[in-house]
Amino acid sequence: MIPANAAANALRWPSAVDCGVRKLLVSFCGLLLAVNAVAAEPPRPQPKSGLSYAGADVRALQADDFGNPGMLWVARGEKLWNIPTGRSGKSCASCHREAPASMKGVAARYPRIDAGDKTLLNIEGRINQCRERHQEAGALAYESEELLALTAYAAHQSRHLPVQAEINEANRAHFERGRETYYRRQGQMNLACTHCHERNAGRKLLADTISEGHGNAYPVYRLEWQSAGSLHRRLRACYFGVRAEQPAAGSAELVDLELYLASRARGLPVETPGVRR
Ligand code: HEC
Ligand code: HEC
Repeated sequence: MIPANAAANALRWPSAVDCGVRKLLVSFCGLLLAVNAVAAEPPRPQPKSGLSYAGADVRALQADDFGNPGMLWVARGEKLWNIPTGRSGKSCASCHREAPASMKGVAARYPRIDAGDKTLLNIEGRINQCRERHQEAGALAYESEELLALTAYAAHQSRHLPVQAEINEANRAHFERGRETYYRRQGQMNLACTHCHERNAGRKLLADTISEGHGNAYPVYRLEWQSAGSLHRRLRACYFGVRAEQPAAGSAELVDLELYLASRARGLPVETPGVRR
């Protein structure tokens, strides 16, 4: 057994080493910093995408860009991207030009704190803010075809990039609230997210195989919905599943939870548009 004070010393050690100065020490410092980061949050096994819990038919459909019905929303989003909207007379493209360049990486790092009013925004929230702030158009309803299409199109530009979800001073309170929700028992079934997605991933629940509950493929095309749907629609379905009161799509509770989920999904590739059963 390692004495407690030795362990504490090991954790304090990196701050005593000057990581900036000696070149040879750089990779060593990186290793120590990684150990430190793990110490700050309990270690978790490598996350696995919901795709790997899906059946072969669903996996094949997602992999085929011509068969994946979610690509229809991506294509609709591309059209909307170029249409002037609102009193500004500007399209998304007027400011952001080509989405494959300007939107690349966005889905990997959202939700983010808005530099202006300091609220936490997911991609849907950011798009609506651009509509209101920059296009002088009204916000789109959550789950509307237009917002789904623009979100799918923007997020698709990050496909294959790893989820990064940086937790920092500015967003930590949101992260903590999201984590609190994740571990809070709720509903008539008195279950928390953790009971299904952390402790029982891989088990069968009715016709479903429970996955780890990551959001890296959203918006997805869900066969049961016969439509594309947002992450918040999926989360609301999970609240419904345990007979809990459902927060509104786009509500602060769900955006905070989305940030916490993104931190759990770190390293998984963005898959938008995913396909789910
Ligand atoms: C008049 C210019 C303008 C228009 C039009 C506009 N945006 Fe933006 N957009 C911005 C600016 C500026 C930012 C940076 C944040 C801010 O200041 O609001 C931004 C940020 C974003 C981001 C986040 C990018 C990042 O790297 O964090 C997304 C996503 C986005 N816009 C999507 C859209 C979409 C989709 C549309 C069309 C519905 C649109 N925007 C229309 C100016 C615009
Ligand atoms: C009673 C079990 C149960 C609980 C509790 C539960 N879920 Fe789910 N969840 C499911 C099932 C079943 C699915 C569909 C199969 C899958 O993808 O895991 C699902 C799907 C998901 C997905 C979609 C994953 C994907 O790859 O498409 C996410 C994200 C998710 N849940 C998050 C949550 C969160 C966050 C909570 C807590 C608020 C929660 N779930 C609570 C059972 C549950």
